[in-house]
Amino acid sequence: MPNLHPTLTAELHLSDGRKIALPVYQGTLGYNAIGVETLQKQGLFTYDQGLTSTALCESSITYIDGDQGILLHRGYPIDELAFNKTYLDTAYLLLEGEMPTEEQLTEFKKEICAHYMVNDQFTRLFQGFRRDSHPMAVMCAASSALAAFYNDDFQSDKDTDRTAIRLLAKMPTLAAMCYKYSIGRPFMYPQYHLSYAGNFLYMMFATPCEPYVVNPVLERAMDRIFTLHADHEQNASTSSVRSVASSGSNPFACIAAGIASLWGASHGGANEACVRMLEEIGTVDRIPEFIAKAKDKNDPFRLMGFGHRVYKNYDPRAKVMRETCHEVLQELGINTPLLEVAMELERIALSDPYFIERKLYPNVDFYSGIILKAIGIPVSMFTVIFALGRTVGWIANWKEMNEEHLKIVRPRQIYTGHQERHLK
Ligand code: CMC
Repeated sequence: MPNLHPTLTAELHLSDGRKIALPVYQGTLGYNAIGVETLQKQGLFTYDQGLTSTALCESSITYIDGDQGILLHRGYPIDELAFNKTYLDTAYLLLEGEMPTEEQLTEFKKEICAHYMVNDQFTRLFQGFRRDSHPMAVMCAASSALAAFYNDDFQSDKDTDRTAIRLLAKMPTLAAMCYKYSIGRPFMYPQYHLSYAGNFLYMMFATPCEPYVVNPVLERAMDRIFTLHADHEQNASTSSVRSVASSGSNPFACIAAGIASLWGASHGGANEACVRMLEEIGTVDRIPEFIAKAKDKNDPFRLMGFGHRVYKNYDPRAKVMRETCHEVLQELGINTPLLEVAMELERIALSDPYFIERKLYPNVDFYSGIILKAIGIPVSMFTVIFALGRTVGWIANWKEMNEEHLKIVRPRQIYTGHQERHLK
């Protein structure tokens, strides 16, 4: 049962005359939620396809107001965090509930550095894959392989904290290894003296043959991309992590479930799909053709990077991403037709009644792909980058769930199959 106390009561009237009183809960911000836990005792379930109106849990980590386009982590607006703080500040905030002091941040960084490296056996795990494997497939395998190395009992606070640090530290290393393996280049060891984002860029792009200097503008952009993806309350991947965790699974296996869920084009895979779409559109004059396809009910095509289950307004992350995109392209002196197509597509879609009526606005994935591509990250790695940033949100949710000792997630269904029948 929730820790919350009901503030109101709802009454459910059934046409057979039954009346059922239900508690109504109110969080700190946001919609009221009707508690339906007692319904099953009355022989009833709720039906909410896609869980669009269902709160899976109570959580104090992240708040989204989809109508206003607001995203808060532990109360702080995402743009304030992205523009003024580093990803590790935000990671600490998500995990611990408060911004770190300078000392706490130094200690946090030190611990992360100490866990950057992965066991050398991982080089063999990678060798088992085809070089052209999709990096998300390799990341799923690599993150669940961590469970084979770390199988503490995960009950004590110390175990929980160490698991969070290990995951945060090892995900960039594994992600960069995925990339290096795919291009047949040697893995690069992490560098303790670099920032979290700088170290990731180093592991991705440095070679043993020459010095590599991290470009501060790209480092900041990478850091912002991680921050903007850090958490987003109960999306498909986070609720997958929670569902798997609810059975008491190893946390590294839970994260692998999150990665698997993130992979799909309706979720994290949209950044990859969005850049592929912008490339396919190619030039501004072809935009009307694609807008028409997106509006055609007989065509499954959707404008990638547009629309969101929760935001019915401009995604606040997309605003930061848009600004960062301009910074990166300016720094690199890139004048890409992709940006031109993206900006014009955004302009046309935002003035088209189809998109206005359905409240379809650019989401976080609309501009992120252009930035990543400019940095030199291949398109197939885009969702891996999303997974890397989101890892902290998954762990924060896993941690919160552990502290609450919640029930196993076990939804029901409306059965629409055969009546009981027998073999002849
Ligand atoms: N292009 C064209 N039409 C769209 C789009 C789109 N991108 N998104 C939604 N619609 C239409 C949809 O056809 C439906 O129209 P109608 O009412 O006439 O049937 C209406 O808008 C509502 O759509 P829905 O599918 O009920 O909305 P949803 O909340 O289930 O879907 C979504 C949300 C993100 C899956 C969807 O907007 C979409 O597929 N977007 C493209 C993929 C994308 O960019 N995903 C990244 C999401 S942000 C990153 C993350 O958090 O994972």
